[in-house]
Amino acid sequence: MSDQWQSDEQRGRAQPPAISRARGNQGEMIWQNRLQTMMQQAEQNLPDGALTAGYKADPQEIVALLVRAQAGEWASFLQYWHHYFMASDIHSAEVKDLFKEHAEDEYEHARMFGERIQELGGVPCDKPEDIARLSPVPTEYNHDLRSMIEADLIGERQTIDFYDEIIRTCGFDDNVTRRLFEHALEEEAKHADDWATLLFAYDASTGKQIESMHDELVSMIQARGQPSKMARRAS
Ligand SMILES: [Fe+2]
Ligand SMILES: [Fe+2]
Repeated sequence: MSDQWQSDEQRGRAQPPAISRARGNQGEMIWQNRLQTMMQQAEQNLPDGALTAGYKADPQEIVALLVRAQAGEWASFLQYWHHYFMASDIHSAEVKDLFKEHAEDEYEHARMFGERIQELGGVPCDKPEDIARLSPVPTEYNHDLRSMIEADLIGERQTIDFYDEIIRTCGFDDNVTRRLFEHALEEEAKHADDWATLLFAYDASTGKQIESMHDELVSMIQARGQPSKMARRAS
């Protein structure tokens, strides 16, 4: 038999598998001990419910963030409904449905954040005065359809940045809360995109904004005597 087909053992070389087998047993022992500790810890502090010893985040910090986020969701829910009721010009018909759809999404976010607050031992933010005080996004009812959509776009963008921060804070220390915010963030990004595509024109071949059309829109808003936030930001 050629040397090529001989095993390491036949060639008389050193045999590493003994070391990895030893490591394997060691790993198994470590996990056996860890699992045993986890099982024992889970039997203690039963009133804590879903908040177990393995939870690595600071529950008070996470509850405080959830409460603020929930306040923002309720405020956003009310803003969308207000825009739905008040959108009245000839272009409003299609946009009204979008206001309603978004309001329903924000309601769902507020509900899931409220449930998570309760799971972590906190109190959900449901009192009107607390919502007004704690919402990170100011309520903007505005006037005509365009300024309503602008206010909604800005609110969504502020919420996206806030939720990105919360996700980074949760990391892998609070996986449940992180996943709730990841889900909400995905929907807020969709909301922001819905408004941006209504307000601005994008080149079909590059995906970039067509600046000339944006300038026209901004000067149109300014001519009506309502300097928008976007016009201010663009200047
Ligand atoms: Fe939301
Ligand atoms: Fe949203």
